[in-house]
Amino acid sequence: MVAGAGTAASSASASPASPWSARSSSASAQDPAAAAPTALDRVVPAPASVRPAAGSYAIRPDARIRVSGSDGSARSARRVGDYLAQVLRPSTGFSLPVTTRSGDDGIRLRLTPKAAGVRTLGEEGYRLQVTGRAITLTARGSAGLFHGVQTLRQLLPASVERTTRQAGPWRVSGGTITDVPRYAWRGAMLDVSRHFFGVDQVKRYIDQLALYKINKLHLHLSDDQGWRIAIDSWPKLASHGGSTQVGGGPGGYYTKDDYREIVRYAASRELTVVPEIDMPGHTNAALASYAELNCDGVAPPLYTGTEVGFSSLCVPKEVTYDFVDDVIRELAALTPGPYLHIGGDEAHSTSHEDYVAFMDRVQPVVAKYGKTVVGWHQLTGAHPAKDAIAQYWGTDGSEKEVADAAKAGTRLVLSPANRAYLDMKYNADTPLGQNWAGYVEAKQSYDWDPGTYIKDAPESSVLGVEAPLWSETLQTSPQIEYMAFPRLPGIAELGWSPASTHNWDDYKVRVAAQGPRWDAMGIAYYHSPQIPWPTS
Ligand code: ACM
Repeated sequence: MVAGAGTAASSASASPASPWSARSSSASAQDPAAAAPTALDRVVPAPASVRPAAGSYAIRPDARIRVSGSDGSARSARRVGDYLAQVLRPSTGFSLPVTTRSGDDGIRLRLTPKAAGVRTLGEEGYRLQVTGRAITLTARGSAGLFHGVQTLRQLLPASVERTTRQAGPWRVSGGTITDVPRYAWRGAMLDVSRHFFGVDQVKRYIDQLALYKINKLHLHLSDDQGWRIAIDSWPKLASHGGSTQVGGGPGGYYTKDDYREIVRYAASRELTVVPEIDMPGHTNAALASYAELNCDGVAPPLYTGTEVGFSSLCVPKEVTYDFVDDVIRELAALTPGPYLHIGGDEAHSTSHEDYVAFMDRVQPVVAKYGKTVVGWHQLTGAHPAKDAIAQYWGTDGSEKEVADAAKAGTRLVLSPANRAYLDMKYNADTPLGQNWAGYVEAKQSYDWDPGTYIKDAPESSVLGVEAPLWSETLQTSPQIEYMAFPRLPGIAELGWSPASTHNWDDYKVRVAAQGPRWDAMGIAYYHSPQIPWPTS
């Protein structure tokens, strides 16, 4: 059963005695002036290609951030420039004006969507060139520029992440990084149903995901314990179904404006929101809100425990499909991204025949409203739609129906529970999380290959990876962070970096260097004994 659920206050801070509370924000004892700048290949995720060169660039008090964009992309370049300035100004104390005036000095952010020389960078890649005179970031799309900015942050001293003025110097090693992602889907899921997390908590997590080039935020918006999104045509889903959570707290839900704000903020960090309504199981909150959705016409009580598999929409009833159509229509209208996740896991109270019939009926509704179906991998046991994406959450990759679907064209997002589930305990002493998929220490989480994980699935079927964070035991931002860090950056690296860079002994040193950054940002991470954290 679940440890630690339902008692602590759901504030964004934890008591200083909690293992998941952030370290004090005192500056590192290391003298940054004496340290060599970070080598270009010492970042997470590991870049695809690095060519070091002699020398370094130092950001000086009069430096400018010069933005330029061809073919109508100037505004996007400015947006990323403004973001970089917001990161750098508090700690450097420099004014760092963002300007469209051209020049061969300073920090130059260039968007060149059509330039022949950068075609291989795709939408998300970037080139970072550092000389004594300038840092030049070039990309074809704003996502590439933004990801390049994340790399640049990691090349500066960790103290750059503080929000008060620090000493510097702000030096970056000379050379060139050319970087593109291995996979298009690099996701993180947050379960806002078992415990509800407010807009500011979600934004905080988005900012943390962006550090590691995660580009999908999957929101698990409904489950037995709570319905978290306002649906105008079925208002009791949120007002009643969203009124509690695991342990019996007050729950909550996103208004449509809240959800739009999350989508907007995620987009500003180059993440696409993937909303999930889990069906036909995991639906007690909906069934409790509307009696007519139940086969016997009787609404069950709200549920605040942590069992799974006991609820099902009523597959034979027509009103079920009115409900599904309304929910998907309203959610699709709110969601600019192309994906809509319909769950489909642990439908233990739905017969196989009903499950298949339900999915046969619901997947076309997703298509009707212009979205691509994503489902947990049990969908592969039904008839996945032609362009469907299955999210694998098994453990050993041996499920034949998943491989068969992949061979027939279903694309796979890999979230093996014994690797990528951020809610698994690190070890028997971890005060939060679950252990049904075993203990998942940092090395176990990192040390696998998405390209070959599913037995007999073609490597080309793998769209990417995702790190889900289920919240039966989690209520605060520091608790989220304690479970996500350091494992999340490892999954992010599996999604971004070429397989040729995969090496635990190298990775553990690079991720260790993130510790002082997380200290500077107030991220409450788990100090895994497998990682050689710097002592300061
Ligand atoms: C799941 O963990 N039930 C997808």
